[in-house]
Amino acid sequence: MFNIIIKDNYDEVSKAAFDVMKDIVRKDKAVLGLATGSSPVGLYKEMIRDHQENGTSYKDTVSFNLDEYIGLPKSHRESYYTFMHENLFNHIDIKEENAHVPLGDCEDPEKSAKEYEDELKKYEVDIQILGIGSDGHIAFNEPGCPFDSETHIMELTEQTREDNARFFDGNIDEVPKLAITQGLASIMRAKKIILIATGANKAQAIKDMIEGEKTVDCPASILQDHNDVTVVLDKDAASKLSK
Ligand code: GLP
Repeated sequence: MFNIIIKDNYDEVSKAAFDVMKDIVRKDKAVLGLATGSSPVGLYKEMIRDHQENGTSYKDTVSFNLDEYIGLPKSHRESYYTFMHENLFNHIDIKEENAHVPLGDCEDPEKSAKEYEDELKKYEVDIQILGIGSDGHIAFNEPGCPFDSETHIMELTEQTREDNARFFDGNIDEVPKLAITQGLASIMRAKKIILIATGANKAQAIKDMIEGEKTVDCPASILQDHNDVTVVLDKDAASKLSK
């Protein structure tokens, strides 16, 4: 079931997304599922503002990020570890040991994936934030990825690497070819999901997710089976929806 909210611009999308989140982030011992990419950055700004102005504390909050590139050191400016610290963790009072980001720079990524899934399973995620790739991927679960997947290693599609080249000075050769990612089944365990998408290049993926057939060709279409998904869109991302 999708609850769809359509707003005029990114600022309003971020505020509406925070509205959906706010009771959860303010509750005691919240477990948050966090995402990277440009889509949630405005929401993270809202969380930081709320922390500064209203004193919302994250000292007992636990978070789990969705994914990480394989082969980039944590300190790399484009690692998701760095992204999360710059865009959220450094500005709120979450404890470093409670803020989980998959480890992609290690000798045995398969083992790292198994350990991440085991840790994630100890918790119930109260709300999972998602963006969506222009090919319909969520986290780094690319088309073809099985619906019952748990945290695993994924080869990135050419389209995803092209989309993400903008973060690597436009040079696709700099974009890693592999990632460690929560699986589709891992994501589906979250109690509540909020997916944020803006811009015309997301319109087809949004249409396929909501109105298309449920198929691994559009990984996000698995969300049709979740009973609590809020989708926050701008008009461009919503432009191909029929109703
Ligand atoms: C990356 C991330 C996804 C994200 C997607 C869209 O591939 N792994 O989690 O949803 O990008 O990113 P953006 O929000 O920048 O369009």
